[in-house]
Amino acid sequence: MAQNINQEGSYSSPFLQDHSTAIRIWHWLTFLVISALMITVLLNSTLLNARKNSLMVQDKLKEKGVIITQEQAIAVSREYTEKTWGIHKILGMGLTILLISRILIELTQPGEEKLKARFRKVTGLYKLNDKNKAEYYHYLMVKRLYLLFYGFLLVLVLTGVGLALGHEVAFLGKIHRMLKRVHSFDQYVVYAFVLFHLFNVILADNGKSKGIVSGMINGNK
Ligand code: HEM
Ligand code: HEM
Repeated sequence: MAQNINQEGSYSSPFLQDHSTAIRIWHWLTFLVISALMITVLLNSTLLNARKNSLMVQDKLKEKGVIITQEQAIAVSREYTEKTWGIHKILGMGLTILLISRILIELTQPGEEKLKARFRKVTGLYKLNDKNKAEYYHYLMVKRLYLLFYGFLLVLVLTGVGLALGHEVAFLGKIHRMLKRVHSFDQYVVYAFVLFHLFNVILADNGKSKGIVSGMINGNK
């Protein structure tokens, strides 16, 4: 950690810590891939919604003198959502690789930047019972939240890969509905985390941890 935990006199936020190049690249790539995944879901449930677009397809063809049934119109509209799900799957595989990379980064990070070492260090400071105790507690809770988020990402990735391989692996085909339900539920956990995370890093940067966001860009080095 660079300049963060100050045991004497003046206060310095424990959140202002070093970030290796690998974790910074990982963070911003994950941000891009998860944002793109969310956009594909948003597009499919709004602009590309097959049921709503089927009426438009029917109307446009009727203007040209062609009458088709709603099922036929839905089949045409679905082609567009299928294309977007195709992109979703590719991005999902990207997120799977990123999650594996996060584990590899953890194993190869400099010792003091490993989550375990950070937990140990700040738990020690917390036990000192000094005036910064509340902030150390806050820090430990935030790191626990990241671990919980990684758990939910793992479920998202496992169910997503299960859905993607549903046609190739018979067993996965059988539990398709369950995978879809868990995958769909997990999306709300991700949305909640992203909103909560954004709100809090911005709040922190405007409060006791000025520079926390630029630290995720320049590594505080
Ligand atoms: C931010 C991350 C993600 C969000 C918000 C998300 C959300 C969703 C949603 C809402 C669906 C539609 C479920 C339904 O029809 O009931 C879906 C389907 C799917 N997702 Fe994800 N997902 C994410 C990540 C992933 C990942 C990591 C994978 C891994 C490959 C993946 C693979 C799939 C597949 C294969 C489908 C089925 C698409 C189809 O119907 O053809 N998703 N996802
Ligand atoms: C899809 C959006 C995002 C996701 C999923 C995400 C996820 C994460 C995760 C998992 C961590 C913990 C990394 C670790 O130490 O293991 C983290 C840290 C961080 N993120 Fe994000 N992030 C997102 C967007 C952003 C954005 C837009 C900003 C800046 C405005 C940001 C700023 C930060 C900062 C400053 C930290 C370090 C905070 C700390 O030390 O507790 N993140 N992010």
